[in-house]
Amino acid sequence: MNKDTYILAIESSCDDTGVAIVKNGREVISNAISSQIDIHTLYGGVVPEIASRNHAVNISGVCKEALKRANMTIDDMDAIAVTYGAGLLGALIVGVNFAKGLAYSHHKPLIGVNHIEGHIAANYIAFKELNLPFLCLIVSGGHTALVEITESSDRKLIGTTTDDAVGEAFDKVARVLGLPYPGGPSVQAHAKNGKSDIEFIKLHKSNDFNFSYSGIKTAVVNYVHNIEQRGEKVPVDDICASFQKQAVEMLVTKTIMAAEKFGYKKIVLAGGVSANAALREAMTQAGEKIGAKVYYPELSLCTDNAAMIGAAGYIGFKNGKGIISPLKIVPSSTIKL
Ligand code: KG4
Ligand code: ZN
Repeated sequence: MNKDTYILAIESSCDDTGVAIVKNGREVISNAISSQIDIHTLYGGVVPEIASRNHAVNISGVCKEALKRANMTIDDMDAIAVTYGAGLLGALIVGVNFAKGLAYSHHKPLIGVNHIEGHIAANYIAFKELNLPFLCLIVSGGHTALVEITESSDRKLIGTTTDDAVGEAFDKVARVLGLPYPGGPSVQAHAKNGKSDIEFIKLHKSNDFNFSYSGIKTAVVNYVHNIEQRGEKVPVDDICASFQKQAVEMLVTKTIMAAEKFGYKKIVLAGGVSANAALREAMTQAGEKIGAKVYYPELSLCTDNAAMIGAAGYIGFKNGKGIISPLKIVPSSTIKL
């Protein structure tokens, strides 16, 4: 019988300090997280310098907590995995240096994980039977991309945003409406009570698979400013419902078009915006119409967490491609998939 593989994974790319222990890339043994949302809410968004400082304060305690919950020690681990990009540089430096220290002092292999690979791998934890190939829609604060993940694990980018990421648009709409950070969940909550009949932009049919969110973002901002200038009450709920409907429609239309064109029956959602209930529902329904199953992780695995880094790290550990010497790994604010 094969021995089980345990990975201790670290995530610190934005405002969540996470440490998790993952077994065989698919089972979460413990998943400790320290969120800084309450701190950054005071500023209306993540302040990079404050995020770095809080990672530095919290990371050791979060790591101890993850090991305690798992009733394990570092010596029980087969490898240490860490997000080395993309993200806020100062925040990444804290996680990477902590991981380097652990790996070096305990003689463990170190695996550098691309944050976006982590978001995709969250689905391997949620769906033990999920295997390649599949079509993946990556939707986060920094990414909006349609990627084919082939049988041999190659990534083929077939569409991306030409300007803003969809999560960025959710955050901007929330800000202009005076809703708390992070914007996505606030917009979703208000959308529930609103009518979705404001058409911010005309959705054009096109044959490519690219997205654009700056047009709708600017349209919402202008709409709100015009109402404010007239001294009228801003219909927050209706604006949220209408924006969310159009934003989701763009994602669903392009994804279904791509699934049909390239013959995918598995559509996987990854990244923070995949927590959006309207997106999950609309994509599932549209998928059913073309005989495709739609996968998305449970809410706690959609937004940033270390368990997903452990799942992605396991793949890099097993194929040997992810292993980096602890003294060589360098954090990077931008990396490609
Ligand atoms: O993946 P993530 O946690 O961090 C990045 O890697 O960027 O994604 C964060 C983004 C934010 O823009 C946040 O507003 C959005 O995901 N988000 C949502 C929801 N929950 C988080 N957007 C729409 N609806 C949600 N329920
Ligand atoms: Zn993320």
